[in-house]
Amino acid sequence: CGIVGYIGNNDAKEILLKGLEKLEYRGYDSAGIAVRSEDDINVFKVKGRIATLRDAVDEKVQSTTGIGHTRWATHGEPSETNAHPHQSPSGRFTLVHNGVIENYLELKAEYLEVANFVSETDTEVIVQLIEKFVEEAGDTLEAFRRTVELLHGSYAIALLDAENPEEVYVAKNKSPLLVGLGDEFNVVASDSMAMLQVTDQFVELMDEEVVIVKQNRVELQKLDGTVVERDPFTAEIDASDIEKGTYPHFMLKEIDEQPFVMRKIIQEYQDDNDDIKLDKDIRKAMKKCDRVYIIAAGTSYHAGLIGKEFLEKIAEVPTEVHVASEFSYNFPLLSENPLFVFISQSGETADLRSVLVETKKLGHPALTITNVPGSTLSREANYTMHLHAGPEIAVASTKAYTAQMAVLAILAVDTARAKGIELDFDPMQELGIVSNAMEALCDQKEVFDQIARDYLSTTRNCFFIGRGSDYYVGLEGALKLKEISYIQAEGFAGGELKHGTIALIEDGTPVIALATQEHVNGSIRSNVQEVVTRGANDCIISLEGLDREGDAFVIPKVHRLFTPLVSVLPLQLISYYAALHRDCDVDKPRNLAKSVTVE
Ligand code: G6P
Repeated sequence: CGIVGYIGNNDAKEILLKGLEKLEYRGYDSAGIAVRSEDDINVFKVKGRIATLRDAVDEKVQSTTGIGHTRWATHGEPSETNAHPHQSPSGRFTLVHNGVIENYLELKAEYLEVANFVSETDTEVIVQLIEKFVEEAGDTLEAFRRTVELLHGSYAIALLDAENPEEVYVAKNKSPLLVGLGDEFNVVASDSMAMLQVTDQFVELMDEEVVIVKQNRVELQKLDGTVVERDPFTAEIDASDIEKGTYPHFMLKEIDEQPFVMRKIIQEYQDDNDDIKLDKDIRKAMKKCDRVYIIAAGTSYHAGLIGKEFLEKIAEVPTEVHVASEFSYNFPLLSENPLFVFISQSGETADLRSVLVETKKLGHPALTITNVPGSTLSREANYTMHLHAGPEIAVASTKAYTAQMAVLAILAVDTARAKGIELDFDPMQELGIVSNAMEALCDQKEVFDQIARDYLSTTRNCFFIGRGSDYYVGLEGALKLKEISYIQAEGFAGGELKHGTIALIEDGTPVIALATQEHVNGSIRSNVQEVVTRGANDCIISLEGLDREGDAFVIPKVHRLFTPLVSVLPLQLISYYAALHRDCDVDKPRNLAKSVTVE
């Protein structure tokens, strides 16, 4: 979800709508804004996208203050009623909220009249509590503070009070929230991207702070009322980075950016002597640890699987990879000196954060690898490595995935050097070759368009197979295809298919096989034969030198360990075109959100 707020002299509804458009990738099943006119709060909300909301907003309403929200449903189905903003029974208070209030049922039972509720959301509890407390508390700030103290869970909230039109009240816990500073105006946003249109100066809010945002002032306080001073930072994102430009979709733009991201990573992680430039403390932590525990979700988890290969094969560091949301239930027996590595494009994924909180309590060091250095996971870990991929807007991750693998490779190489392990390749040179190979693939889009058309335009399902690192890339290929084209796709280890899944192969079932690893080239091709014999429509993507007649595509040769960085591009492009041919919404697939700040 995403929230925005504005208080100033200009047309609030336009600034809020533009802000929400920029945040839409965070959730987009319903949306709404509330703006204050002369003597009224006007709420507009819809089920659906910001474009629908734009149509629903009354052009004539004049306002210079307001709040807005774009939702990814947790409690309560996506509907106009459940969309934010939510109002208190008298209509005095209006509120938007990101996150999940874990004790909302208890709060409802203890303090509020169930009959007064109009939505099924946890959020409505917050706004009703504020109204309940305001008389007794004496003023809105005190009622707001009292309410916030009762909340358990994650939240970023912004509140309008019809009787105090000069102020917007905000607070946060676990969910990200920023206040943006301007000349004669101030703004609120869960991500700086939303408000780059009006300012690049932002103040980061911390957990358990309440903030009063006025047109010319921003007052930060702790829950106990102590005033907090904090300097703003300059958001370094270029506003043009978050525009599609001439591309039809962000996803295609971001796929095409991968060669540049590789070069940027080489540049950022190389010093003048061509050595690896890395925080010395990270080097020390890596040298000291006896086992790395990678924690991640979704695509980042798939990058983690390749990261394990790098860390074990290049740096000889034993490594485990865990799905973040499962970690606590399957807490492994830890080694003596563990190092936790959190991989997250957004740096905000709540499933990862809860592991970080738990492992920090145990006193274990943590490194976050993220595309957003100021993010929650980055701030709360001991060390951060930046992906330098530029903002990734399409919900399906592409350039962040390849950047994650490249940064993990650099970490592995640096650790190997620190441990005195001799390497027989120059990693930066090899990443340069990767970058060129990526460029060559991006120049052949029509081939992948055709593959998507031939194999995937009408199919119900699809399998990806591979062995070794090709298997891990296959998992990512299947996830991409599922996410954006809604084809039921699964990745399998080549040898595993025959132990059950092969039962699903029918006449014409597409099986996309990766054959980029010399030591398994023969065996993966046998696996392909096994499915072809049973009617599968095979599509083999191989590596130069390992290719055979009939392969659908041959990838330019890169270093053996780095093939995943390149072999995923055909899969990204095939998914992209499959989604196009099936008329799917490429950048904003149904039911998903880019950054999931709830567990
Ligand atoms: C969401 C997104 C996925 C992403 C995952 C992890 O579920 O839809 O595309 O891979 O979160 O996100 P992170 O920001 O932690 O890498």
